Amino acid sequence: MSTTTLPVLRPGPKLSGRTTLGIGGRCLAEAAPRTEAELDLLAAFLDAEKGRPFVLGGGSNLLASDADSDLVLLCVGHDGLELFEREGQPMVRAGAGLKLPVLLSELARAGLSGLEGLAGIPGTVGGALAMNAGSWGQTFGERVVRAALWAPYSGLGWIGREALHFGYRAFYPGLPGKWLAWEVELSLTRAEPEAVQGAMRGFMEQKRAGQPLRARTAGCVFKNPEGESAGRLLDQAGMKGARIGPMVFSERHANFLVNEGGGTFAQAMELLERGREKVRERFGVDLETEVVILS
Ligand code: EPU
Repeated sequence: MSTTTLPVLRPGPKLSGRTTLGIGGRCLAEAAPRTEAELDLLAAFLDAEKGRPFVLGGGSNLLASDADSDLVLLCVGHDGLELFEREGQPMVRAGAGLKLPVLLSELARAGLSGLEGLAGIPGTVGGALAMNAGSWGQTFGERVVRAALWAPYSGLGWIGREALHFGYRAFYPGLPGKWLAWEVELSLTRAEPEAVQGAMRGFMEQKRAGQPLRARTAGCVFKNPEGESAGRLLDQAGMKGARIGPMVFSERHANFLVNEGGGTFAQAMELLERGREKVRERFGVDLETEVVILS
């Protein structure tokens, strides 16, 4: 008889404690599969639960409603990491629950190059895949060789690069309905560990100089319009330092919404809309949100 059980929290956590912005209400439940055997129990769990499933990574790109909700959080607890070679090519297999900064420091230690530009991005491997995280012209998707994705109707399966499509902060796995990322395989190139570490340090310094890395934010809130920077447009539209209560567009980089403490979803949304409106009035450009809004 199998003794495997799915780790479940019911009631679920408050999203304010699971998001870098620190905003969000209580969820119905949370399931956190750590092994494939536990993942196998997820479909039945979702059937029984009747809530709205939502896959949560590091919560670092999320603006969540602070009302209590019927959300059922799915949090991948698989954070394994394996470095190996395939036909002489250095590869990495990483669990979707692994923290992206942990992956990057392991790559630096092992002298594996290709993701240095992502230094300073928080979140998880699963989140980096789902959002095609990127910085300084490098994206997570460029390195993905295949991804093990799970869906309630088809279970777990590897999907090869040719069937995976990446866009600007977007990922299209070609699966209908709800899915979650379990594991990814990345292809990298060999380099001196000092060179990889040095490059990461350099990108971090640039980021520290230009972005509010220590503040409570969800990263850039708007996508950059073609050939432009949303931060520059917001800045020129006078939004730097604009605030509603403790929610404020960062003085360091206008495309970051900062929660100085106790900010609400309504305040964040109102300020975000004000920023969008100002940019529309001034430049005739419609900014599209990059942050995932969950209400
Ligand atoms: N700028 C301003 N004022 C501001 C912010 C920026 O004038 O308040 C100017 C800068 O001086 C620079 C230009 O706008 O000349 C571009 O700024 P930056 O180099 O900071 O890059 P970005 O386009 O604003 C993008 C990504 C960031 C990523 C950086 C570095 C988007 C929406 N943003 O920002 O990604 O870290 O490049 O590669 O794609 C994120 O996705 O959450 C994110 C922060």
